[in-house]
Formats: sequence, C-alpha cells, structure tokens
Amino acid sequence: MAGKVQKPSDVVFTIRRYDPDADKAPHYENYTIRVEPGMTILEGLHLIRETQDPGLAWRYSCRMGVCGSCGMLVNGKAMLACNNQIMDISSRRLVIAPLPNFNIIKDLVPDLAAMFDKHVKSRPYIFHSDTQEMENPTGEYGQTEEELVRYLQFTYCIRCGCCMAACPTLATDDNYLGPMPLAQVFRWNADTRDEGFDERKVVAGDAGGAYRCHYAGECSRVCPKGVDPARAIQLLKRQLVLDYFKLLKKGKGCSVLGSDTEAQRRPEIPDPPPFTVDQ
Ligand code: FES
Repeated sequence: MAGKVQKPSDVVFTIRRYDPDADKAPHYENYTIRVEPGMTILEGLHLIRETQDPGLAWRYSCRMGVCGSCGMLVNGKAMLACNNQIMDISSRRLVIAPLPNFNIIKDLVPDLAAMFDKHVKSRPYIFHSDTQEMENPTGEYGQTEEELVRYLQFTYCIRCGCCMAACPTLATDDNYLGPMPLAQVFRWNADTRDEGFDERKVVAGDAGGAYRCHYAGECSRVCPKGVDPARAIQLLKRQLVLDYFKLLKKGKGCSVLGSDTEAQRRPEIPDPPPFTVDQ
C-alpha cells in the first residue's frame, strides 16, 4: 500500500476530548507515540493513557473485533480500534473522534442506548404463532443451505454502531430506525422458522422505517464484519411491497405503511368527477 509505514515510527494521535460535566465544548489534543509494526489503534490509545493522559476515555472489551465496543471515527471513517493496525493507515497522523450520530458520554465513548432501543423495537427474535410449540418445541426446525444463506451474513452483525455512524439519513433524522435495526428486521423476516413479519412491519414500514433509506450505501462500506445492511434494507422494502400487493389483492388496503396513523396521512385519492361537454 502506498505510503504505508513499515518500521517503528512516531505517529500523532489527534483526539477529540469532551467531558460534558467539565467542558463547554469538545476540543482536540495531540499525542505523539512510538508505533511498532502490528500495533493496533486500540493499543495506541492504551499507550497514551499509560504514558501521557490517564483521563482519556474510550470503550473496549474483547480486543478482537467481536464485542463491538470500540467503534470510533478514525480519519473520517467509522471503524473498530482493535481491528485496525496503525501502520495500515497511510498517514502519520490519526484524527480520532467518537462515532457520529450518537450522544457522547465522554471523549471517545458514544452513548449507544438509542441504537439498542431501536434494535429492541425491531423485534430481533423468532415469533411463532403457536406459543406452546414456542415454549416446548416438539421437534427440530431444519433449514436447507439455501434457506440459511438468505439471512446468514446478517447474523454476523456485532452491533458496534459503525453503520449507524456512517448513515447520512440518520445524521438528519433521529426518528429513522437506521441500518443496524432494519438489517436485523430483514434477518429475522428471512428466517423460515419465523412468523413475526406482521409484528415487525409496524416499525419497519412506518415513517422511520425502510423507506426512509435513500440507499447511500455508506453503512455497508464501513461495516467491520462485511455485513451489507444496505442490501438488507432494499430486500426488506421488497418484502413490504410484496406484502402490500398481497393485502391489496385480498382487499385489505394500504397495510404496507405499517400503522393507521401513517395510513391516515396518505388517504386514498378519489377519482375526479366525470367531465361533460356542458362544463
Ligand atoms: Fe471488542 Fe474492539 S474491543 S470489538
């Protein structure tokens, strides 16, 4: 890779600092560290805290790209700090900020609660109309390889919030569900064991649901696990449209919108009165 630093080298971390209890506004501070080959951004942050600033705050747990805790904005791109080596970034200066589109708890720690609330709203689990069978299954619910592949990649999501941070729609509309919860709606809808489409349609087909996505595709570009939430949302739109036509055929109207309130905002438009020559 052009410009890639391959030997021990000084790298400047320009980190956005903000303590809501003490600071009026965020500001940036520079820290220069000696970077060894293989050192991750997360290890760089640990070195800064150990040697220069014990008050620096960020979130992490597994250090191996599994828990989804260490998402942050590095040189303008949302990524996991533990999953990226400093020398793989072709710059000797890393500008690091917390994930956008979230409130900030402190420094590089975003408040992910709003994302998890939306995730809960998306009903990310299997529904079964027979609750008895749900509680005490009488057998196995097998799937073919083809059925599994329909949703498998969406199970790799680690809820790190990188896709939510990259989404331009979410940046302007807090009510939008966002790529992670919507991708999970599709993941569960696409599971042959599930019967919860109508439950999830209430939020997925509403004003803040799938149709709010303008398909910028940034969510898929930044996902550290290779999940493609943008694709899931387009497939979800397809599910909703097919459901709409199915209900229309049965004479049940605009159920694709997901709620009565929304249906009222888009009333049926009557035909104009017939035109006669006397007019
Ligand atoms: Fe767990 Fe980075 S620390 S994903």
